[in-house]
Amino acid sequence: GTRDDWHGLAVLVTAGGTREPIDPVRYLGNRSSGRQGVAVAVAAAERGARVRLLAANVEDAVLAEAGAHPTIRIERVGTAAELEAAASAAAAGVDVVVMAAAVADYRVDSVAEGKLRKEDTAGAPPVLRLVENPDILAGIVAARPAGQTLVGFAAETAESEEELLERGRRKRRRKGVDLLAVNAVGWAEGFETGRNTLHLIDAADELIATVGGSKREAAEGLLDAVLALRGRDET
Ligand code: C5P
Repeated sequence: GTRDDWHGLAVLVTAGGTREPIDPVRYLGNRSSGRQGVAVAVAAAERGARVRLLAANVEDAVLAEAGAHPTIRIERVGTAAELEAAASAAAAGVDVVVMAAAVADYRVDSVAEGKLRKEDTAGAPPVLRLVENPDILAGIVAARPAGQTLVGFAAETAESEEELLERGRRKRRRKGVDLLAVNAVGWAEGFETGRNTLHLIDAADELIATVGGSKREAAEGLLDAVLALRGRDET
C-alpha cells in the first residue's frame, strides 16, 4: 500500500515468546514464532510509523523483513524479565503499544548454575519450582501517558467462537487495554503458520472487527482498528 496514515506515530511492538531458563542449556518456552508481531511492526513502518520492535527469541528468518526496514529498531530479548525491562523503558515515549509477545506466566525459581544431570538426581526426577512473572502489560497500563493506545493479545484455546470471544472480553477487562486481539490457538492452529484470524475487542467490550488472512493482512486490519479508536477518542 502507499498509505502514510501512521506517519508521525511512534509504536512499540513486542513479538515472539519468552524463554525461562532451567539451567544453562534448557528452558521453558512456548510455540510463538513472532510472525504476527513482526507483521504488525512491518505494516506500521510501511504506513509511516517509527517502530521499536522487541523480539523475544524470534528466528532470524522471521526477523529479516523487519530488519530490512529503516524505521524499525529491533532489540532482542530472551526472558520475561528482559522483555519487561526493555518494554517498560520503551513504552513511556510511544503513541501505541502492541503487546503481541507470548510472555511466560512463570519462571523457574532457582536456575541451576550447571547443567542438571540424570546421574546426580539418582533416580529421583528433579522438581521445578515456578514463580510468577510480572505482568508486563499491567505495568505499562498503570504508567500510561495520556493519549497512548494500548493493545493486548490473547491466544486462547476454546471449544467455540462464543467461548473464544468471552475469554477475550474477560481478558480485555482484566488487562485494562484499549483493544484486545484474541485468536484461537491449538495443536494445529495459530502457531507456526502464516495465517491468522484476530477478533478485536474494544474498551466497551464490543467486537469491533474480525480481521485476518495472512498475518500481514491481520496486522493491517489491527492497525486500521487502532487508528479508528484513536480518531474516536480525539473527537
Ligand atoms: O494473560 P495472558 O498471558 O493471556 O495475556 C496476554 C497479553 O498480556 C499479551 O498481550 C501479553 O503480551 C501480555 N502479557 C504480559 N506479561 C505477562 C503475561 C502476558 O505483558 N506476564
